[in-house]
Amino acid sequence: MTKRKILVTSALPYANGSIHLGHLVEYIQTDIWVRFQKMRGHEVHYVCADDTHGTPIMLRAEKEGITPEQLIARVWQEHYDDFKSFHVEFDNYGSTNSNETREYSQSIYLKLKNANLIEVRSIEQYYDPVKNMFLPDRFIKGECPKCAAKDQYGDNCEVCGAAYTPTDLKNPYSAVSGAKPELRSSDHYFFKLSADTCQQFLRGWTTGRLTKTPPLQQEAANKMQEWLGAEGENKLTDWDISRDAPYFGFEIPDAPGKYFYVWLDAPVGYMGSFRQLCDARQIDFDAFWKQDSDTELYHFIGKDILYFHALFWPAMLQHAGFRTPTKLFAHGFLTVNGEKMSKSRGTFITARSYMDHIKNAEYLRYYYSAKLNGSMEDIDLSLDDFVAKVNSDLIGKYINIASRSAGFISKQFDGVLASQDTIEANGTELMNSFISSSDLIAAAYEDRDYGKAVREIMRLADLANEYVNVQAPWVLAKQDGQEQRLHVVCTVSLNLFRLLTIYLKPILPKLASQVEAFLNIGPLSWTDTARPLLGHRINAYSHLATRLDPKLIEDMVAANRESLQPQAQSEQRHAAHQQHTANKEVAKSSKDFEPFIGIEDFTKIDLRVAKIINAELVEGAEKLLRLTLDIGEGKPRTVFAGIKSAYDPEKLKGRLTVMVANLTPRKMKFGLSEGMVLAASGETPGLFILSPDEGALPGMRVK
Ligand code: MSP
Ligand code: ZN
Repeated sequence: MTKRKILVTSALPYANGSIHLGHLVEYIQTDIWVRFQKMRGHEVHYVCADDTHGTPIMLRAEKEGITPEQLIARVWQEHYDDFKSFHVEFDNYGSTNSNETREYSQSIYLKLKNANLIEVRSIEQYYDPVKNMFLPDRFIKGECPKCAAKDQYGDNCEVCGAAYTPTDLKNPYSAVSGAKPELRSSDHYFFKLSADTCQQFLRGWTTGRLTKTPPLQQEAANKMQEWLGAEGENKLTDWDISRDAPYFGFEIPDAPGKYFYVWLDAPVGYMGSFRQLCDARQIDFDAFWKQDSDTELYHFIGKDILYFHALFWPAMLQHAGFRTPTKLFAHGFLTVNGEKMSKSRGTFITARSYMDHIKNAEYLRYYYSAKLNGSMEDIDLSLDDFVAKVNSDLIGKYINIASRSAGFISKQFDGVLASQDTIEANGTELMNSFISSSDLIAAAYEDRDYGKAVREIMRLADLANEYVNVQAPWVLAKQDGQEQRLHVVCTVSLNLFRLLTIYLKPILPKLASQVEAFLNIGPLSWTDTARPLLGHRINAYSHLATRLDPKLIEDMVAANRESLQPQAQSEQRHAAHQQHTANKEVAKSSKDFEPFIGIEDFTKIDLRVAKIINAELVEGAEKLLRLTLDIGEGKPRTVFAGIKSAYDPEKLKGRLTVMVANLTPRKMKFGLSEGMVLAASGETPGLFILSPDEGALPGMRVK
């Protein structure tokens, strides 16, 4: 086998929040892949760092009365410890606020400038005259231009879901100082993505025409085609890469008072962190980053940051003379019990809280593995299923094999396994069938289809248990003249256990090292499958793992269940905001507005006739009514509608209207909104909900 040289990254977590179970979907997933590749004997480097720049971090430090440097140093340590407790083993964990990242950011920028891909343009933006700073969209609030809901952010409305720009807000105010913002103009630096060279390169790169293997998963490639538009359509516009002082970040060379936007230097942090590793371990940096490098580069990312990694980043690298990623591995989002993580439900669980309560990281690593399949689909942590799977698979199937055989070896055979010549044919056959699964399991790991690997491993574990059940060592132990058979049966079953341990080691590194100590062997690697362990002295068996007590889960959820706190809301907003930023960049970049949609776009919307069975005021909400709608399902839906100004709730009861039934449920301050009611509005005052003609029944589809 040729030794591959592989550089792997996970996305750099923001330095202004704690690591939570959602993040861990990514870091655990990456760590497993890296451990697998290392076990295969390849040269693999896994780097990551904290993403430390930007306005939110600057303002948070200020609020805490410390410097941004102090804040990011503290959070770095927290993140580092959290990852370690989950056995996520980086070769280097850096920070984007490093000399290395600064140098690469500046040199990439200068190369883009030399290639005529940087342009300076004046833009108008809201400015906070009290705080003396330009305001990012999420630090401006006001009334939604569409539904008039108060206190909505400058980018989108959480009540009606409308997307807009801050200047569309009515009565805007600064979320930092409360002041009324003023429009001011300032010079901004743009990366000219609209240039032909960028558009052509990206069209070729994202479709896989320029590389040996396609750099994107199919679903990701499709998304990019949407964003790039058809050949010749050139949908991308220039990307604003500068921010004005005050800003916590790197100053742009020769542009005093101008800083790189955080997303410019964030991916460069991959290089900066790797550079530190290269310096520490004498690795050739250029071999991994030069344009025609024969090494492999993989970025594990969430689907919310695909846009930055599949468009901006490769375009930057290509035009600054570096290699582009071999492949982006994008994954979906975590839900808990089928819903978004939520503080009020107690399912917004930090890494720290999980460890405090459950104490065993490998349970989660195992569960995530069973669920991951290498696609961009969301993955669900069902807490009941979590307990069931850990106890039935990990403890009931895997650990059980060792615990049922080990004792006899120590007690009756002085801790020494039987030798080769005594093993019976059925034992050899079974071991060989385990060994022959090696390629299938390895291929599943390689494809990040850990679910498939786990299913195969558990199928083998069932076979091993069947063998032990049939051979019944506890019966043999009581019969005269069966010593040798007892010895062989326990030896075979411990060998089966050892093979399963090799296969599970990327997922369960700590347990695997406990098993190595028990079996009295060195670190297992993938090729160790070939050699059985015979005539070898092992150590006494001591307990490897205990069942997961469901009470621990209950306690953890109870400890995390809080009334919705402002911080939780902002955490929840974060993902939505990030996705929205990407969408907005695209919206901004569409040169011509598409006047028509195809029928297939329209039919995606599930419009239903709904009967309003109840309508009521919502305490604390100025614009909202809580509607209970019957759309012919077993259970009525709850929908919050911004129509209080136009309707008396009493008069709505019993009416029919039309709702969008397949809108992703939205968590609002007042509860979950499970759809949207349609209403007409225009320049003149008034809001008008729709009514179907007489005879329509609840649940009928509108099409
Ligand atoms: N700082 C940026 C990444 C810069 S990379 C050059 C960022 N940070 S983040 O902290 O918000 O997210 C870090 C990673 O965790 C991202 O890949 C993100 O998609 C992932 N996840 C964050 N929350 C998640 C879930 N709830 N579920 C799954 N992954 C999630 O984005
Ligand atoms: Zn609105």
